[in-house]
Amino acid sequence: MDAAPGRPGIEPAGFAPRVVAWQRAHGRHDLPWQRSRDPYRVWVSEIMLQQTRVETVLRYYEPFLQRFPDVRALAGAPLDAVLAQWSGLGYYRRARNLHACAQQVCERHGGEFPRERAELEGLAGIGRSTAAAIAAFCFSRREAILDANVQRVLGRAFALPRPRDAASLRAMWQLAESLLPARHIEAYTQGLMDLGATVCKPAGPDCRACPFAADCPGPADAAEAAPAARASRGAARRTREWVLLWARSDEPDAARVWLQRRDAQGIWPGLWSLPGHDDAAAALRQAAELGEVLDQQAREPVRHALTHVDLLLRPLLVQLRARPRAADEAQHAGWFTVDEALRLGLPAPVRKLLGG
Ligand code: ADE
Repeated sequence: MDAAPGRPGIEPAGFAPRVVAWQRAHGRHDLPWQRSRDPYRVWVSEIMLQQTRVETVLRYYEPFLQRFPDVRALAGAPLDAVLAQWSGLGYYRRARNLHACAQQVCERHGGEFPRERAELEGLAGIGRSTAAAIAAFCFSRREAILDANVQRVLGRAFALPRPRDAASLRAMWQLAESLLPARHIEAYTQGLMDLGATVCKPAGPDCRACPFAADCPGPADAAEAAPAARASRGAARRTREWVLLWARSDEPDAARVWLQRRDAQGIWPGLWSLPGHDDAAAALRQAAELGEVLDQQAREPVRHALTHVDLLLRPLLVQLRARPRAADEAQHAGWFTVDEALRLGLPAPVRKLLGG
């Protein structure tokens, strides 16, 4: 392993103690999930933190725990209530897995989270790194984490390219395990996370604040080091346009909107949404099937960024004379009052349109 010119390279045996000391002095200590060793609370935080920034998770974490205070409450809740509470956090598969996992913990483990990484790893939505984080934080198990942030930290610290195949990923897991400290696994695990999130950032790392500033060889990955490569990846983002049919039927008791549950695959899997169409003509054809069109009005377009695609949503508000059937969740489509709709799992922009 070659160090950068003039740098000695990091001594593996000294790595963990330096991470622990740095975490104690400069890491994060006041995040709400750090106040607990309750695996339910830690697990919820780890799942929310996958692909989502701490600042965002902070707005969702406590309300989620108030609504579902323990694993049995979560397991016994309808999936739609879980999706509704998750609405806005994105990556909704996490919410489905969370619900499934809670049920597995109740059915297979009597409502107690297992304490070993290998057992945690068998549960829905819990991969090796998340299982290791829970086992380390809650049960002081000496287990290695290796999420994308930690891959970057170790890659830079030990001059390894980003793992691109199973063999290089295996090698990095071995490195991660070999670095584990004999004691203070909690501070070490948190320290790696904190370093990755606050110092050793993907773009513009703050190397002056890093405990390894003097001996880190720095980015080894050609793709990571070349800004041009990043820029061209960024340019590949697509925009997808949908006309959202916002069909509204004014009933004597309350206005109702037509919602459809989306497929389990694709954008917004399993969420309820206003139906998306390629153009206004297709949206109006569906509206005419739902009832007599009395009025239509194009509303202000809404932009919404997903991971790989930007959505441009064009709401088309269509007033209908219809005889709404009762909402029929089993049919995956139906008329809902706004109050009923806001209790379902809705994508964030649709929730906002409807007034949530
Ligand atoms: N990212 C993943 N897990 C985290 C944690 N426990 N604290 C802060 N950021 C994280």
